[in-house]
Amino acid sequence: MTVQYTYSSLSNSQEIDRLGEITRQCFGGSPSDWEYYLNLIGAENFRILRQGEKAIAGLAILPMGQWFGGKIVPMAGIAAVGVLPEARGKGAARELLNNTIKELHSLEIPISALYPATQVLYRQVGYEQGGSLCQWELPTASIQLKERHLPMHRVGLSDRSIFENLYNQQAQVNNGNLARPSAIWSRILEPRQEEEIYAYLIGSENAPRGYIIFIQNRDKKEKAIEIRDWALLDVSAAKRLWTFLSDHRSEIVGINWRGSSVNPFTLLLPEQTAKIIRQTIWMLRIINVSLALSLRGYPLQLEAELHLDVSDNLIATNNGKFCLQVSQGRGEVSQGGKGDFKIDIRSLASLYTSFLSPRQLHSLGYLKTTPEALAIATLIFSGDRPWMADFF
Ligand SMILES: CC(C)(COP(=O)(O)OP(=O)(O)OC[C@H]1O[C@@H](n2cnc3c(N)ncnc32)[C@H](O)[C@@H]1OP(=O)(O)O)[C@@H](O)C(=O)NCCC(=O)NCCS
Repeated sequence: MTVQYTYSSLSNSQEIDRLGEITRQCFGGSPSDWEYYLNLIGAENFRILRQGEKAIAGLAILPMGQWFGGKIVPMAGIAAVGVLPEARGKGAARELLNNTIKELHSLEIPISALYPATQVLYRQVGYEQGGSLCQWELPTASIQLKERHLPMHRVGLSDRSIFENLYNQQAQVNNGNLARPSAIWSRILEPRQEEEIYAYLIGSENAPRGYIIFIQNRDKKEKAIEIRDWALLDVSAAKRLWTFLSDHRSEIVGINWRGSSVNPFTLLLPEQTAKIIRQTIWMLRIINVSLALSLRGYPLQLEAELHLDVSDNLIATNNGKFCLQVSQGRGEVSQGGKGDFKIDIRSLASLYTSFLSPRQLHSLGYLKTTPEALAIATLIFSGDRPWMADFF
C-alpha cells in the first residue's frame, strides 16, 4: 500500500515542539540545543512531512548563496533532514526532498547544496557531488617562517563587517565558497560555552590584507589552535600569518583548519607537513537549469556556445534543449539549439561547480557529446576545484 504524505511549513508552536522532538531523536542534542538551532535558522525555514495527522519528518532550508565563476548564485542549503525511525524505509525522506525541490523551483532558487549522510537518497532526487570541505592539520613546529614586518591587530568580534568584507574578497575567486548568511557568521563569531575566541587583522588596521579567528583548544592531550575562520588576500598576509601561528609553538602542538583540497599557501611551508586528515564532499542540485546557468560567471575572455540537452525526472521545465551563450564573463540561456551535449541533471551539478571536468564525466558515460562540444564545455567550466569551509 502506498503511504500518503503531506508536506508543509510549521504552522504553530505544537508543530515546532514536535519537530524539535524529531530532530533531537534523529541527531541527538538537548532541548536547549534545539532552541538555539531553531532561533539561528528561523522557524519559517523548517519544513515537515506528515503521515496522516502525525508529523514524522523534517528539514531546514537555509537561504544563502554560493560563488561560481566570480558571481553569487542564490542557493538553498538543506540541513537536518530527519525521519522518525519507525517511519523509515518507506520513501518519506525522498518525498520530503522532492517536495522541497519543487517548492524551491517555484521560488526561482537556481541551486541547492547539502552535506549527505548517505548519497543514495540524495542522488535519487537529483543531487550529485559538487565540491569538498577538507579538514587540515599542521604541526606548529614545522612552520618555520620568520616574516614579521606586517602588524597583527587583535580586534573584537562585534563588528562582523570587517571580516565579511575581507571574506567576500577571498570567496569571490573560489568556486563553491558560500555567500554566508547571518546564521553562519553567528556560528563563527559566537563563543560556545566558556571558550575564548581570538580575532586578529593582518596588515594596517585601515586596509587589512587578511584576518584570523581562532580558539586555543587546551583540553586536548596535544594543545591545538583551531582556526574558526580566516581570509588571506595576498602572500605577505599569508607569510605573516604562518609566522604568527609558528610563534605559538612553545605551547601549541598543532594547527587545524577547514578548507580546500589544495591550499596554495601551504607551498610557503618548507616541507609537506600540512596534511588533510578528513575530506567531506558536499552535493549540489540544479533546481532551475536556465537560471543556474545564466547566474554563474564564466571565464572573461571566452566567447563560446554550448548546446545542452538535459534530462530531469522531477522538474519538467529542466528537460530539453538549452543553448548557453558565453560572452564577457556572462552566460545567456535560450531554449532550443542542437542539443549535442546530452547530460542528466545530476551530472550537470558536478559540471556546473567544476568538480568534474567534461572529459571525466564523459569517461564515466555520464555525458554524450561530440569532441567539439566536449572541448568547448571544458573551456566554459574551467576553474579551480570547488570547495567551502563551512559545514551546515
Ligand atoms: C537518512 C534518513 C533521512 C532516510 O530516511 P528514509 O525515510 O528511511 O529514507 P527513504 O525511505 O526515503 O529512502 C530513499 C532511498 O534512500 C536509501 N537510504 C535511506 N537511508 C539510507 C542510508 N542510511 N544508507 C543508504 N541508503 C539509504 C533507501 O534505501 C532508499 O533507496 P531505495 O528506494 O533504493 O531502497 C533517515 O534514516 C534518518 O533520519 N536518519 C537519521 C538522520 C540522518 O542521518 N539524516 C540525514 C542527514 S544528511
